Amino acid sequence: MKRTRIAQVLASEDIGAKITVMGWVRTRRDSKGGFSFIEVNDGSSLSGIQIIADKKLPNYESEILKLQTGCSIKAVGTVVASPGKGQKVELQAEELEVLGWADPEVYPLQKKRHSFEFLRTIAHLRPRTNTFGAVARVRNAMSLAIHTFFQERGFIYLHTPIITGSDCEGAGEMFRVTAFDLDEVPQKEGKVDFEKDFFSTPANLTVSGQLEAEIYALSMGDVYTFGPTFRAENSNTSRHLAEFWMVEPEMAFCDLDGNVDLAEEFIKYIINDVLEKCEEDMAFFNRFIDKSVIETLEGVVSKEFERLTYTEAIEVLGKAKEQFEFPVDWGSDLQSEHERYLCEKVFKKPVVLVDYPTGIKPFYMKVNEDGKTVRAMDVLVPKIGEIIGGSQREDDYDTLLKRIKETGLNPDDYWWYLELRKFGSAPHAGFGLGFERLIQFVTGMSNIRDVIPFQRTPGNVSF
Ligand code: 4AD
Ligand code: MG
Repeated sequence: MKRTRIAQVLASEDIGAKITVMGWVRTRRDSKGGFSFIEVNDGSSLSGIQIIADKKLPNYESEILKLQTGCSIKAVGTVVASPGKGQKVELQAEELEVLGWADPEVYPLQKKRHSFEFLRTIAHLRPRTNTFGAVARVRNAMSLAIHTFFQERGFIYLHTPIITGSDCEGAGEMFRVTAFDLDEVPQKEGKVDFEKDFFSTPANLTVSGQLEAEIYALSMGDVYTFGPTFRAENSNTSRHLAEFWMVEPEMAFCDLDGNVDLAEEFIKYIINDVLEKCEEDMAFFNRFIDKSVIETLEGVVSKEFERLTYTEAIEVLGKAKEQFEFPVDWGSDLQSEHERYLCEKVFKKPVVLVDYPTGIKPFYMKVNEDGKTVRAMDVLVPKIGEIIGGSQREDDYDTLLKRIKETGLNPDDYWWYLELRKFGSAPHAGFGLGFERLIQFVTGMSNIRDVIPFQRTPGNVSF
């Protein structure tokens, strides 16, 4: 089934070419002159192609006049210049075959606008809409840009495990992986006998590939992971998913400043790339989703990110006239309202906060000389808040062991991680970027559930 993609037909404007296109009907309009205009989209671009079907076609009365939104068709024809506004070329059909019907009585996607909430319930059909097609193409372009960015800089792409025995963030927000029959879980002395389970020990879905990325960074220099991560946190917000994708570079011989530099360069690179390569889709988002999104992105790439310490940020927030829902005290974690205030009201650009209190950050972050703060960095952006979390890593064996114990973790579970600090330890740093949060930022889509093809959130595992 040879076909030409509609994006290519529209881009090449090859008048006179005889081609075959296949796709899904968006609309059909019949003219009094005895022909129909059929708008077809195949997902290759936001724009579809207009097909002109003449009543002389043998199946004009029997099929073409019955075509409705959602039907799939194959059209063979000649590319002709379009007299109409909005498109340069159209297709004069010489043959039009209906591949699959879609009964308008029951097909849920009609020409009218549907709410995003409704579209989430039909995730098998929503990519046929303009918005979800555009999100899918931008997500695809951003994935490639991520690889290109790191590959151009000599980073090695690393696949870290999905199933692990450790908890990287130490927060215990993990999905358990087991092969037990849950109706008959083996017990020993009143507790679950994990020795009888598949891995002979408790196992879970990873919350981050960082710990394993550190292993490879301490052998190969610069590495990155890009894969799914899982969090069993019961957060029903517009910025949380239970399954999301994370990009995690990890660099040997790198400190916190180098880490922040890379994060800033990385975000700017991805944004520039999308603005250049996804012009049509970005114009769509700017028109229908968020009228300031392109301006915001252009501002982000043209200005330096603001860098300040957590302590300085607390001072700024303490002086704010704004009424916050959550209090701001030194030592407590910042909420997204505080993060957004800093980006949107104070600095009007992305903000990087460093040197957070030890008590609110995971065990692996390097402790500063003051003993009270760690070399953490969070990158915050307008409308979203935290988009990147990272740090320089603790490379001193004794300090790390102490931190593991302090945070209530079992050093035995981290023996290999500790050993990296015994044999050729080196300063190293890295960060994790929430891929969906970056897509939200780039597209202006307000809910994270609408920038991942299939959402995994509390109560949602369909599709
Ligand atoms: O700040 P986090 O928890 O950092 C880590 O996991 C580190 N181990 C990363 C590293 O240093 N290699 O998560 C990193 C980012 C956050 O800044 C956020 O953008 C995103 O991952 N994120 C989520 N995105 C969607 N849904 C969730 N539930 C998320 N939790 C974190
Ligand atoms: Mg974080």
